[in-house]
Order: sequence, then structure tokens, then C-alpha cells
Amino acid sequence: MSTEREHFSSRIGFILAAAGSAVGIGNLVGFPVNAAKNGGGAFLVMYAVFVFLICLPVMIAEMAAGRKAAKDPVGSYSLLSGGSKGWNIAGLLSVITPFMIAVFYTVLTVWIFGYIVLTLMGQLDYLATPEAFGEFLTSPYLFVYMILVGLIINVILVAGVKDGIERAAKVLMPSLFLLLVALVIFVLTLDNAFAGVEFYLVPDFDKLTPTVVNGALSQAFFSLSLGMGILITYGSYINNKTNIPNSAKLVAITDTSVAFVAGLMILPAVFSFNPNVNTSELSDSSVSMIFVFLPKIFLALQTSIGYFGASLIAAAFFLLVLVAALTSLISIIEVPICAVIDSKKVTRAKALTYVGVAIILVA
Ligand code: ALA
Repeated sequence: MSTEREHFSSRIGFILAAAGSAVGIGNLVGFPVNAAKNGGGAFLVMYAVFVFLICLPVMIAEMAAGRKAAKDPVGSYSLLSGGSKGWNIAGLLSVITPFMIAVFYTVLTVWIFGYIVLTLMGQLDYLATPEAFGEFLTSPYLFVYMILVGLIINVILVAGVKDGIERAAKVLMPSLFLLLVALVIFVLTLDNAFAGVEFYLVPDFDKLTPTVVNGALSQAFFSLSLGMGILITYGSYINNKTNIPNSAKLVAITDTSVAFVAGLMILPAVFSFNPNVNTSELSDSSVSMIFVFLPKIFLALQTSIGYFGASLIAAAFFLLVLVAALTSLISIIEVPICAVIDSKKVTRAKALTYVGVAIILVA
């Protein structure tokens, strides 16, 4: 089978798709909590320096390599290196890595989907109990949620680059920005919100230990979807007119801004719940923050806006995380799909079936 390679239809479509890949679960919860606990403003400045001095050049290089070769990561590295063995291994790693990330990202996305369903069914008070998350993980309904999430991803990816990935990004990314801004505005009106803003932004340079610095750089690479073949793959779908450095700058700015603004939602919410919050309670793990800690915060809102209002805010938050997760997951799964299409010359639908079944089995 040989068909012409698909392309994004516009530069904005490409930027939104790449930004959708970058903005993920970690931006919304993990980043703000890490930043606040590890130096506040000092962490933010260091992170921004890493993004623009180290990550941006890597991002530009990945996009350019993909465009030049017009192939998946294995094919791109092989073509550009003239078949060097070392680069072939780098290409393979750039396909195996997103496959492995797709497995755990699918699991997280399915959980978030389940939390939206339960919140909308009026079960926020249950989700805020200590045993809820453990029980949720053994619920047979997880398989139903997994099928539904699988269907959403399938519908988007089978439609291809322009009608699937690009169209989804054009709808989901503006929705994500609107939801985030609405939630930030709401949270900042809560009592004690500004104690959270202060905790988030006041710099403490003493906290920048080597471990924190290393963690910030890893976070920046993961957040910008670098080293996982995604931007090579998306780069292979752009035309020669697209200005790569400018597009990459916009993607980096969007990703970093969303992560920063998310801090203006999470930390004020936490401090308004308990102004004397013991900050060691704030877990570095996005999983325990999203599924264990935040439901308690949302439930506490019922004293000011009632149970229905609190459930609505919780559902809006989980929806925000779901949108961020879906646009990232699409890009992560697209890498092995593209690799299968390019190497085995099969249709997109067939490649999606092979990759999708493998991910679901392992997940
Ligand atoms: N870049 C994606 C994220 O931050 C993978 O979640």
C-alpha cells in the first residue's frame, strides 16, 4: 500500500496539536505542586531557563528532523544518519518509549474519565472518603470506562492527521484554555486564595538542590513531549512553508503558561480549604493529588456553594484534566501508529488496531 503522506492543513493546526501534546496531566497538578514545594518563584525561573535554553533547541531539532525525512522516528534517524547503527537504536527507543508512556497514560485517562462519571452521578462525597480510590481501582466499571476512552481515541486517530488529530486539537485546546481560565477566576475569589498564590510564587533559592534541579529538567523534557518521537512524527506532517522556530516557541510558551496558570488554580484551592495546610501533605505525585487529595478540597466547597455547585466545579476540573490527557495521549499513540504505517505499509486503521490492542492488553 502506498499513499501520499498526510499533512496538517494549517500552521495553527500544527501548533495546537503540538501544544495539545505538550499540555498534559503533569502540567495541571504535578508541575504547580512541585514548583510550590521546591522553591516557588525560584523554581519557576529555573524551569523557564531550562525550557528556553535547553528544551526549545531540542524541540526545533526534532520537528526539523521529522519534516526533512518525512518519516516516523526510526525512518527519520536512519535516513538522516545514513543508516548509522547508533541512530537506529535511538529511533527504536523513540518508538518504544511513547508506547510505554501510552500504557500508563491510558490508565490515568481511564481513571479520570471514571471520576467525571462518578462526580456527575452525585458521588463526590464518596470520592472524598479515604477508601474510595482503592475501591475505584478494583471496580469492574473500569473496563467500561476503558472501552469508552478507547472509542474516543479511536475515532480521532482513525480519521487521520488533518481530520482527526488537527480537528480534535482545534476543538479541545480552546476548550481547555476556557475551562482553565474559568476555574482560576473562580478559585481566586475563594477566602484565603492569596495565601496559596503567595506560597506558589514567593522564591526560596535555598530549595534548589541538585535533585530539584534534575527533577525540573526531567519535568521540562516530559512536559514538552521531547525525546519520545512525538515531535519528529508531527514534524513529518508539516510542509516546508511552516516556520519551525516560531512554531516551537509558541508551543513552549503555551505549555509553560498553562503549567504556570494551573498553579493559580491548584494552590489557592488548597489554601482556601485549609489556610494552615501542612505542605508535606501535598504529594509530589499527580496521582495521589488528583484522585485522593483534590476530591476532599472540592467537597469542602459545599459549605460556600452547596453540594451541587461543588460537584459541578469538581466535574469541570476533571474534564479539564481529561481534555489535557486526551490531546497528549493522541500524540503519544500516533508515534507507534506512524512507525507501523511507514514500516509495514499498512492502512492507518490496521496500524491503529495492532497498536491499540497491544496498549490495551498491557494497560
Ligand atoms: N507532554 C505530555 C505531558 O506533559 C506527555 O503530560
